[in-house]
Amino acid sequence: MSDPHLMDAVAALRAGRLVGMPTETVYGLAANACNDEAVAAVFAAKGRPQFNPLIVHVSCTEDALLLGRFSEIARRLARAFWPGPLTLVVPRTQGCPVSWLATAGLESIAIRVPGHPLALDLLRAFGGPLVAPSANRSGHVSPTMAQHVRESLGHAADIVLDGGSCRIGLESTIVACTDERVRLLRPGGLTRDAIEALIGPIESGKSDPSRPEAPGQLKSHYAPRAPVRLNAAEVAPGEALIAFGPHWPHGAALTFNLSEKGDVTEAAAKLFALLRAADQPFISEIAVMPVPETGLGEAINDRLRRAAAARED
Ligand code: TXA
Ligand code: MG
Repeated sequence: MSDPHLMDAVAALRAGRLVGMPTETVYGLAANACNDEAVAAVFAAKGRPQFNPLIVHVSCTEDALLLGRFSEIARRLARAFWPGPLTLVVPRTQGCPVSWLATAGLESIAIRVPGHPLALDLLRAFGGPLVAPSANRSGHVSPTMAQHVRESLGHAADIVLDGGSCRIGLESTIVACTDERVRLLRPGGLTRDAIEALIGPIESGKSDPSRPEAPGQLKSHYAPRAPVRLNAAEVAPGEALIAFGPHWPHGAALTFNLSEKGDVTEAAAKLFALLRAADQPFISEIAVMPVPETGLGEAINDRLRRAAAARED
């Protein structure tokens, strides 16, 4: 029997709203992974100080193959452990429709097929990928019962589907297969032993400081080719302008606006896509107007400072 609230949950997701989703690991705060505004609403609800990339959930491996490029070894891991508590980080496919905000501007994407019947029902009925970070406010413990989600994020979710207590109660294990190596990025519900029994020894992602992978680390993020200039009040002719708010200086070669009405959540939704759009070969510099530090503005400014600093190394 499917859940009586399933189709309401699907309707909410299609409308760009958020749904509490049970999985076998922890409850997730789910949103349409291809909708920038919905993904921004997830970050806003969680109060994340930074845009950590989110895990994208799909109902089957075939759907995962549309979003990411799976090496032979990644395919073996998927075959052995999906549905289940394993997240695979792989390169994004060309034309991957997932929001750039969901992957925090990265060329890689974290994907998993959750091993919970209600999560799979929801994914199949929705018919597309869902982002779902653990449904707690940033810095708080992950929820393992629908009640926990209602308590901490009930105001943000239209519906919290009740799938009972999470069988595993610990987040998924994250393994990166972005190159020839296989690296454990986050220990979790699937043991290293189980993985190594299948494919042999794997590396620990965090032990290789020359190739940082953890979210928020500079090099793993998309850095524009063009230098980024912050707090711009005026523009030069060769520059691209990323404006914020109803008034902006004229004369840039390209002008984009994060949010004409000055809404930081709308700005977050557009940030990564606009940085890419502004980074054209004929642009000498990307000038960015100030964005307030309120709400998601803190995470936006963190990301912009990283983009501006990226060329100093
Ligand atoms: O068990 C789980 O995985 C739960 C349930 C709800 O599915 N979800 C979850 O999602 O823990 P989330 O979004 O909180 O996990 C995000 C983490 C990031 O902080 C980062 O460590 C890793 O996944 N991640 C996501 N995309 C990545 C990428 N492209 N490269 C490296 N790490 C990535
Ligand atoms: Mg979490």
